[in-house]
Amino acid sequence: MKPIIAPSILAADFGNLQRDIEMLNHSEADWIHFDVMDGNFVPNISFGFPILEVVNDHAKKPIDVHLMIENPEKYIQDFREGGAHNITIQYESTRHLHSLIWQIKNAGCKAGVAINPHTNVQLLEDVIADLDLVLVMSVNPGFGGQSFIENTYHKLRLLKELITDAGSDTLIEVDGGVNIKNAAKILEAGADVLVAGSFVFKSNEPENTISDLKNVINA
Ligand code: DX5
Ligand code: ZN
Repeated sequence: MKPIIAPSILAADFGNLQRDIEMLNHSEADWIHFDVMDGNFVPNISFGFPILEVVNDHAKKPIDVHLMIENPEKYIQDFREGGAHNITIQYESTRHLHSLIWQIKNAGCKAGVAINPHTNVQLLEDVIADLDLVLVMSVNPGFGGQSFIENTYHKLRLLKELITDAGSDTLIEVDGGVNIKNAAKILEAGADVLVAGSFVFKSNEPENTISDLKNVINA
């Protein structure tokens, strides 16, 4: 099975956002990853609804929203109305995970939970059957362009086992420091979805770079 490729527009050229989204439309990318940072949950601020509107106006592919914010439950409906297809919240950002997952699903979106590098995958055992995806952070959230944390491979294997044991079809997404050198190993460890920001948008030929990631296991 080929992986799902989700380029992160955090690394796009915002002066040419429409051009970059049209590039993604023509490419082998499957989803458009949209990173929201609030300066509280993470030490950085990215973008919110006005940029989502631009992405939604031009994108022909599902928008994969990743909320790195406090109080995500306040904004689920707004992201849904803004065009989100998937909404992933951070495990560490809520006290009421089960309720929030169902808030997302009842809003009509696919529900995901992201776990930081220090968060044990076993903590998801009681909600795994409710989840459409688990996003494993392979860097500390907040910034693009960081190096992949090697312990992620171990977490991916444990998570894959948890999902298989539960008989669930939850997808595993990996986010942070993904490139052509580590992509095959990430997929072999159990991932289904690769997020890539810098590696795609800093490339001289981003469409080819996306294609390289999409076909990395058959290359
Ligand atoms: C980091 C974000 C990532 C980021 C990945 O907090 O969640 O989605 O855009 O960027 P790269 O691929 O550059 O590590
Ligand atoms: Zn992300």
